[in-house]
Amino acid sequence: MEVVIVPDAASGGELIAEAMAELLRHKPDALLGVATGSTPLPVYEALTAKVRAGEVSVSAARICQLDEYVGLPHGHPESYRSVVLREFVAPLGLPESSFMGPDGTAEDVAAACAAYDRALAEAGGVDLQLLGIGGDGHIGFNEPSSSLASRTRIKTLTERTRRDNARFFDSLEEVPHHVITQGIGTILDARHVVLLATGGAKADAVALAVEGPLSALVPASALQLHPHATVVVDEAAASRLKLADYFRATYASKPDWQGI
Ligand code: PGA
Repeated sequence: MEVVIVPDAASGGELIAEAMAELLRHKPDALLGVATGSTPLPVYEALTAKVRAGEVSVSAARICQLDEYVGLPHGHPESYRSVVLREFVAPLGLPESSFMGPDGTAEDVAAACAAYDRALAEAGGVDLQLLGIGGDGHIGFNEPSSSLASRTRIKTLTERTRRDNARFFDSLEEVPHHVITQGIGTILDARHVVLLATGGAKADAVALAVEGPLSALVPASALQLHPHATVVVDEAAASRLKLADYFRATYASKPDWQGI
């Protein structure tokens, strides 16, 4: 696992957007897995700026979703499909046909989960999966106690996550209890997994994920199993890392051509 400590969220966004751009320069139809929440927004802004500046073309890129609420009506502005289309797909000038995600409106949720897991594999697998981390250590919507081998399935949100996400809704009551999420095993199938965490509220979760034991209680610790996992953290989110100086020195002496 590589840990990169950046001065602030904008630098983290730029670093990850450049990794996405570099991937697309070599593989124009790469499948990019994107995340929702506040943390990834600087990545999307930085990649959009690169496209507008002509530094990379995303015209053949494909985008896929990490997780989704169950039961929000089709087109609901806070469904993650709507959020990803609004915050990432549209600013990049990509058509909706470049995007794939699980169907949170399906009557048969289990079938929708299995279909999405299959669709990701049939699309050739995810080339780069961007992740945030919950204050409780979740990735996607894999809450603590999720099987480290899990596939895409329905999960129940913890009250903490529902409260964290209530800011996007008019009231806590409107936040769904159920979600579809790529499983931890599904996430680990991506060729490169990149987790971005910013702010002091994530410091404990980051330290447990990076330096704690592998544990279903901290789903993000599963990244320790991945051969190409990159954790990008700002100074505040890195503040509980015991090996912070080692991570800084390692990154500072890395050859420029290597990327993340
Ligand atoms: P946030 O969400 O980026 O809005 O903090 C992260 C997550 O819950 O995965």
